[in-house]
Amino acid sequence: MTDPYRWIEDKLAAIARAGWHRQPRLNTHLLDFGSNDYLGLARHPALQQAAIAAIAQYGTGATGSRLVTGHLPIHGELETAIARFKSTAGALVFSSGYLANVGVLSALLGPQDLVVGDAYNHSSLQMGARLSGATVWVYPHGDAAGLATYLHRARAGFRRCAIVTDTVFSMDGDVAPLTNLRAIAEQYDCMMVVDEAHGTGVFGPQGQGVVQHLDLAPPVVQIGTLSKALGSLGGYVAGSASLIAYLQNRAATWIYTTGLDPAATAAATAAIHLIGQEPDRRDRLWQNVALFRTLAQHHGLPVLPVVSPIAIVPLPTNEQALAVSARLAEQGFFVPAIRPPTVPPPPPGDPPRRPHRRSNSGFGKMPPNLLLGTHLCPNSRDRPIPKTLNISRRNKT
Ligand SMILES: Cc1ncc(COP(=O)(O)O)c(C=O)c1O
Repeated sequence: MTDPYRWIEDKLAAIARAGWHRQPRLNTHLLDFGSNDYLGLARHPALQQAAIAAIAQYGTGATGSRLVTGHLPIHGELETAIARFKSTAGALVFSSGYLANVGVLSALLGPQDLVVGDAYNHSSLQMGARLSGATVWVYPHGDAAGLATYLHRARAGFRRCAIVTDTVFSMDGDVAPLTNLRAIAEQYDCMMVVDEAHGTGVFGPQGQGVVQHLDLAPPVVQIGTLSKALGSLGGYVAGSASLIAYLQNRAATWIYTTGLDPAATAAATAAIHLIGQEPDRRDRLWQNVALFRTLAQHHGLPVLPVVSPIAIVPLPTNEQALAVSARLAEQGFFVPAIRPPTVPPPPPGDPPRRPHRRSNSGFGKMPPNLLLGTHLCPNSRDRPIPKTLNISRRNKT
C-alpha cells in the first residue's frame, strides 16, 4: 500500500530546495523592525485594561455566531466607532482581516460578474475574488491605464464589476493609484473595494486611511484589519447601511463563525479612541521613518523609495536575504527576509538570480526573490510625501 501522505514530504523538500521554506520564529529580545504594530498600541495599557474589563464582563469568548447568540453590546460599540472613524453609515466586524476580504468579495460578486485586481493584492483579496466565482482579471501592479483599456473592451460582457486593491501594498510599501482607480470605477460602473490593512492608523488627517488622505469620493467599500496599527485582532468593512445589512445576510465568513472575542473587540475600540486622542503617536511614526530613511541614505542602503512606513531593501537571492536577516539578528535587530510566495517568485523560465523589473516600483531593476522587509514609518509632519507617487499631502493633526 502506498502512503497517501507521502506527497507532503516531497512537496516540503521541493519548497526547501527552492529556498522558500519558512517557519515561525520567536522574537523575544530583538529590536522589532518587522511587526505591523505601527503605533505601538498592542501593549498600550488602555488596550490591555479594556481587554481585561471585557473579559471580566463577558468572558473569553462570544460563544456563538453574531446572528444566533454571539452578538455582544461591545460589538455594536466597536462598529459604531469604526463607522465614525471612517465617516461611513455603518461597519461590520469580522474575526480577521483575511476573513473580511474573503467574505465581502464572495458576497458582492458571483459567476456573472467581473473582478479586476492588482497583481500584488494581498492573498485574502485574491482568495475572495476566486471564491466568488466571478471572472478574475489581474492587472499589472499599479497599472490604472491598462485596467481602463481592459474594462473598455470587456466590461459590457459582465453584470457587476468590482475594482479591488490594497491601498498600501504590504510587501512593496507603495500606494495604489486610488484616485485614478476611483475615476475608472465611476466611468465603467464598477464597485470599488479597497483593503486599508496598512493604511489605517497611518495615513489620513486622523489616521483613518488612504481613502481619507486622498479625500476619495464615496462610495468606496473600505475593508481593513484591527490587527496592525490598531494593535488587536479582527477585521472590518465600512460602508453604507445597505451594504452592511446585505453582508449580515450574505457574507459567509461573518454569518457562519463565532463573533469576535470580547478582549479583541474592546481593545480595538480603545485603539480607535486612542488614535484620536494621541495623534503624536502617528507623528512619532513618521519621524522614525524619516530618521531611518536619512540614515539609510547616509549609509548607502538601497531602500525602495515608497511613501509608507514599509521599508524594502531588495537583495539578489533568497540566500542573501536570509543571511542579512541572520546578521541583523546577531546585532539585535529583527528584520525579516521576505521570500516567495509572499512576494512573487521569478517568472517561469527565468534563472532565479536574474534581476527582474517590477512595474511601478520606481526602483528600476529589482531582483525577484529577495526583499528584506521592515515596517517603519515614513515621513514626518514636515516632509512632503513625494509627488511621484501621486498621493496628495494632507495635514496630519
Ligand atoms: C494587505 C493585507 N490585507 C489583509 C491582511 C489580513 O489581516 P489579518 O491579519 O487581520 O487577517 C493582511 C495581513 O497580513 C494584509 O497585509
